[in-house]
Amino acid sequence: MSRLGLIGAGNMARGLALGWGEPVLATDSGSGRAAALVADVGGESLGTDVAALAARAEVLVLCHKPYALADVASLITGFTGLVVSVLGGVSLAELRTAYPEASVSRTEPNTAVQVRQGVTLVADGGDRPEDVRALFARLGTVTEVPEASMPAAGGISGVGPAYVALVAEAWIDAAVGAGLEPEVATELVLGTLEGSAALIRAQGGDTLGVRRGVTSPGGTTARGLRALVDAGVPSAFLSAMDATKGNT
Ligand SMILES: NC(=O)c1ccc[n+]([C@@H]2O[C@H](COP(=O)([O-])OP(=O)(O)OC[C@H]3O[C@@H](n4cnc5c(N)ncnc54)[C@H](OP(=O)(O)O)[C@@H]3O)[C@@H](O)[C@H]2O)c1
Repeated sequence: MSRLGLIGAGNMARGLALGWGEPVLATDSGSGRAAALVADVGGESLGTDVAALAARAEVLVLCHKPYALADVASLITGFTGLVVSVLGGVSLAELRTAYPEASVSRTEPNTAVQVRQGVTLVADGGDRPEDVRALFARLGTVTEVPEASMPAAGGISGVGPAYVALVAEAWIDAAVGAGLEPEVATELVLGTLEGSAALIRAQGGDTLGVRRGVTSPGGTTARGLRALVDAGVPSAFLSAMDATKGNT
């Protein structure tokens, strides 16, 4: 793809750059994180000089904080390439106002892009959708959604790595409590999460079928499932989805 210029060199920028695995141009707001990033992935830090970055990049990836949109854009004039935003809650209309001469795209990758198993949401209605899809397909799956659905969709994939980490940690702790070594418990939990997701996908998303496949009437799995339902796992996910509403 084209030469990538990352504005902002924080957590999201690092994850994206590690996933892309190619040299990038990068800036920060003075912390030195851009230099640290290019030391790891290759490329060049342009310090805080976003105008210089825009002059050399073909694709600008906005990885700063959402509130900095106007300030950053004011330093960049005449950019006619592709501006890909990962800024939470920043609309296509706001991007077009900030970068009137550029093609713009609104995306929301999750942090698993770092290991190329990310989920990236792309808002319908953005420019150069095929180029954007190709760029993020290198980092995992890409799902186009109506722009109005971005908050709800991000309430799954964007926040999801944290949810899975919480679930995995609780499960590992429970296994350690039952006498397993932490390393063994971690291996079992992660392997089970990965394999179960692959199995559900192979069965066309039939979660009930997968559950039935391991659940003998009155057996161990049935008792474990009952304990999870009684403990409120399904309603906990409803509450979590409600809690993310309105967040960007
Ligand atoms: N983390 C996630 O899971 C996730 C997922 C999807 C989208 N996002 C979005 O990704 C963006 C970045 O999040 P993050 O977690 O990576 O934040 P972060 O770690 O705080 O990094 C932000 C970066 O932006 C730089 N920056 C701040 N103001 C700037 C300015 N005016 N000009 C140029 N650079 C500026 C910062 O510079 P310094 O290094 O000098 O401070 C830093 O390198 C946010 O808009 C967020 O909505 C995050």
